[in-house]
Amino acid sequence: MKTVTMLVNGRPEKLTLEPHRTLLDVLREDLGLTGAKRGCEAGECGACTVILNGRPVNSCLVLAVELDGAEVLTIEGLGGPASLDPLQQSFVDNFALQCGYCTPGMILMGKALLARNPHPSEDEVKEYISGNLCRCTGYENIVKAIMAVAAGGERIG
Ligand code: FES
Ligand code: FES
Repeated sequence: MKTVTMLVNGRPEKLTLEPHRTLLDVLREDLGLTGAKRGCEAGECGACTVILNGRPVNSCLVLAVELDGAEVLTIEGLGGPASLDPLQQSFVDNFALQCGYCTPGMILMGKALLARNPHPSEDEVKEYISGNLCRCTGYENIVKAIMAVAAGGERIG
């Protein structure tokens, strides 16, 4: 067991962990942050995406014991029902979700992209989210939702 401290959604969390546990395990099981979804657990679907030290990662592939001093942002830290982040609102306005399983990961990928490139092209958006799988929407409205925020607009199309 090893004790690590990390900042999760701005809150310090001290955790004593077995070495095999992933960041996804710890977020969901120890901290009750179930926005990051358990999909493939093999780094192939993106459902578990969170922002780690400013960069999007598949949290199913990251060992939590290696994260002493790290900063983690999950979808719960972005906004809630009473105060949605503009990208969350854009997903709603552009009908960019159906079952919602991919949505937290998609939104965090969109946030990461817009942070490094506030005005991406449509192709850049498609490329950036290409590791995040969605079985429902066909991706078109997800791209629209991200492009709408990049354009500073509301609903597209
Ligand atoms: S659950 Fe992590 S990439 Fe699929
Ligand atoms: S909305 Fe169902 S997987 Fe994307």
